[in-house]
Amino acid sequence: MTDRYAVIGNPIAHSKSPQIHAVFARLTFQDDLTYEAILAPVDGFTATVRAFIAAGGRGLNVTVPFKLEAYALADTRSARAEAAKAVNTLVFSPAGIHGDNTDGLGLVADLTHNLGVPLAGRRILLLGAGGAARGVMLPLLAERPAALTLANRTAGKAQQLLAEFAPHADGCAMDAGGFGELAGRQFDLVINATAASLADEAPPLPEGLYAPDSLAYDMVYGRETPFMAAARVQGAARLADGLGMLVEQAAESFFLWRGVRPPTAPVLAQLREA
Ligand code: ATR
Repeated sequence: MTDRYAVIGNPIAHSKSPQIHAVFARLTFQDDLTYEAILAPVDGFTATVRAFIAAGGRGLNVTVPFKLEAYALADTRSARAEAAKAVNTLVFSPAGIHGDNTDGLGLVADLTHNLGVPLAGRRILLLGAGGAARGVMLPLLAERPAALTLANRTAGKAQQLLAEFAPHADGCAMDAGGFGELAGRQFDLVINATAASLADEAPPLPEGLYAPDSLAYDMVYGRETPFMAAARVQGAARLADGLGMLVEQAAESFFLWRGVRPPTAPVLAQLREA
């Protein structure tokens, strides 16, 4: 029987995941699987997942707005999903529903492998304190940056996130606050994990944040966001959107399901071309 996988979300029509996983399947010679996109009603996540399992589903990618519900639905969860308090990958087996989160690893893999930016010893600024920021905290700290600064529109939320992850700092100097408090400081890597790009806005950052050779990275993909445009003007040496993160998190999900790590470079190149 063909193994069924899918991405579930609302909306879902724009998702690139079916295209990405179709290429992964081809590149790893796994022709006995299908990967579709499932639109779940906003109030019907669990019922839709149960129906998919009953129909032979083996795994799901979970996207907006269901990552917290997926976390709650899982019988067992990985440590990184526990830290993220969100699940983007579900694995179904006779033992039950296992939840994982591959977003943070996807970001780190894109930064270190695709973009060639080592994180060890660097000064990182992470913008935002919502689910997207939380999901990448543990994998970022695992790379042992020299410093990790959290900045958010609502400073208190960044401070909360800091308090929660401080036990994992492992020698990394961590601090948190509002955007205004960043004045006069410099960073090697600035990651935009706010939802500002979705509203076509840039977080209001003071000038002078970008060190020589610095990278400005937006988790949103598909276009130059207002954050990236501002970073260009303010002297960031390099800009990147989150397309590589999307492909890398997908590859890690594929690995969880199939036990095979697909090559990501050809998929990323194909998506960039399109
Ligand atoms: P996600 O899961 O995408 O992180 P979220 O949990 O709703 O979504 O968090 C959205 C994040 O983007 C928050 O950090 C939010 O800042 P606040 O905590 O102050 O609300 C941030 N954000 C949203 N719109 C923004 C904007 N226009 N400028 C700056 N930050 C913004």
